[in-house]
Amino acid sequence: MCGIVGYLGRRAAQPILIEGLKRLEYRGYDSAGLAVLEDSKLVVTRTVGRISNLQERLAAQPDSPSTIGIAHTRWATHGEVNEVNAHPHRDASGKIAIVHNGIIENYAAIKEYLATRGISCRSQTDTEVLAQLIGLLYEGDLPAAVRSALAEVQGTYGIAVMAIDQPNMLVAARKGSPLLIGVGDGEFIIASDATAIVQSTDKVIYLEDGEMAVVTPEGVRTATLANVPVNKQVSRIEITLDQIELDGYEHYMLKEIFEQPASLRNCFAGRVNTAEGRIQLGGIANHWRQLTTSPRLVLVGCGTAWHAGLVGRYLFESLARMPVEVDYASEFRYRNPIIEPGTVLIAISQSGETADTLAALNEARERGALVLGIVNAVGSTIARSTDAGVFLHVGPEIGVASTKAFTGQVAVLTMMALALGRRRHMSIGQFEWLLGCLDRLPNQVKWVLDQSAHIRKIAEKHIEKQNWLFLGRGFNYPVALEGALKLKEISYLHAEGMPAAEMKHGPIALIAKGTPAVFIATRGEQYDKVLSNMEEVRSRGGHLIVVGCEDDDRLRAMADDFIGVPETPDALQPILNVVPLQLLAYHAAVLRGCNVDKPRNLAKSVTVE
Ligand code: G6P
Repeated sequence: MCGIVGYLGRRAAQPILIEGLKRLEYRGYDSAGLAVLEDSKLVVTRTVGRISNLQERLAAQPDSPSTIGIAHTRWATHGEVNEVNAHPHRDASGKIAIVHNGIIENYAAIKEYLATRGISCRSQTDTEVLAQLIGLLYEGDLPAAVRSALAEVQGTYGIAVMAIDQPNMLVAARKGSPLLIGVGDGEFIIASDATAIVQSTDKVIYLEDGEMAVVTPEGVRTATLANVPVNKQVSRIEITLDQIELDGYEHYMLKEIFEQPASLRNCFAGRVNTAEGRIQLGGIANHWRQLTTSPRLVLVGCGTAWHAGLVGRYLFESLARMPVEVDYASEFRYRNPIIEPGTVLIAISQSGETADTLAALNEARERGALVLGIVNAVGSTIARSTDAGVFLHVGPEIGVASTKAFTGQVAVLTMMALALGRRRHMSIGQFEWLLGCLDRLPNQVKWVLDQSAHIRKIAEKHIEKQNWLFLGRGFNYPVALEGALKLKEISYLHAEGMPAAEMKHGPIALIAKGTPAVFIATRGEQYDKVLSNMEEVRSRGGHLIVVGCEDDDRLRAMADDFIGVPETPDALQPILNVVPLQLLAYHAAVLRGCNVDKPRNLAKSVTVE
């Protein structure tokens, strides 16, 4: 949420800052800006809207020779979307410029204090208050001024700061909002995530909460906010440039949907061993004993990750016979949760930076739980904050609407549930059979993807319908929720997902002639009951769009529109069943002219509570 880039080196800063911002645009994109240093002046350019607007504005100006600068793409928290509220922000003297991710919670109190010193703010943002405070405290020692200002701040931040009279220095600090420093050949790039620096270097220093970095041509000095030096390791970034390019696809979301056969294969690689009948999950190898005997697993996440957690509950209960609780990370944290001895909390997050999920895992750890992570972004805060975990290995996900990360999360949960099941009660025969089915999933996903054109036609038929229902039971209930979320996120159509049986307790009132009702009705324990629910919709004039097993002629005959998927055991079916719903949402959004990869009001990783 919001993106930061800072550059200090030998090349012109502006093109590198813009390139970095474009890579970070998926994190927030309502306004953008940058500051460079020219003739001992801070030159700040800000625009409302996408990075392309900022680029146009800059193109109308002479090229900047500055080799230092900071830049930001915003997802508004405090203050409406306009140029004055866009970052970078400066202090009253114009000497200091800052970009900031996070929320300064006591900004009102600091603002009042600034007023007593005769300083008034121009913008409505919490960030300007910090810029003013640093400016007020600045007496030629930028790190000292930043340190003193941050000592007064409550809240979260990732910041990059520069000063007019320090042409060779950037100061960065972090608390609760990710920040890293790319180390290149005679140059340094500060960024809020690794995608912004891969085009220049694969060497990176990750700042931890409560740490500050002073970047000069001589190198990076890291210390705590109390100025105790900290020795940091230089790590290697795992993602590559081609992973974050469009590669001929029109949108990242489509690319990522189509990557799923490969991303699932990657996720299973070295883990699912059908020849030896084993599942190996190296990241949690030391924790099987506690997992196997745990009285309760608690799964937390937000958005799509929470839906993956819901599938996880069905998986752990049915395959491993373990009690499971699933909660929204934001709710778990504040409801005084009960953590009995032996509880294992599993935090699920694609980005590894979601503030609510991070807060939930910290809460659980403080109460004595073992905390595991199911995370995609290696090196992310959640990945580094958990006791152990399993990475998705599905590659970077850029499209705001999560797709391959969801199937990756469910794949990891499936492997964990199977491995636990085998350790607890599952027969070798059943285990090996399920392992074989798991192994076939990537190819079966490919089969579903081949129906993209057919699914587009279905989307086309219903594109004017404003209200959609998504219904499923058992394993397909979370899939219904995820299908509805995908549609509303990127096409702005109203969609509700629910357990098919719940429909009759209220939502059935929404069904009118032609209302699209998407049923996920592959064969499983509750198959016959779902068919009855479908009849209830049909008899009220609803239009049945049905995802079912490809050879299910009865269902095909009953449906107004039918999308076939290969059959696999009920527990594995969600990975296949969600794919047509991802495609349905994608095509609907494209047909409606929506910005698929950057839907309005959303951001890829939400680093504020
Ligand atoms: C945001 C995104 C969602 C995502 C959720 C959790 O709301 O827009 O797509 O599911 O955050 O993100 P995480 O990175 O923790 O999986």
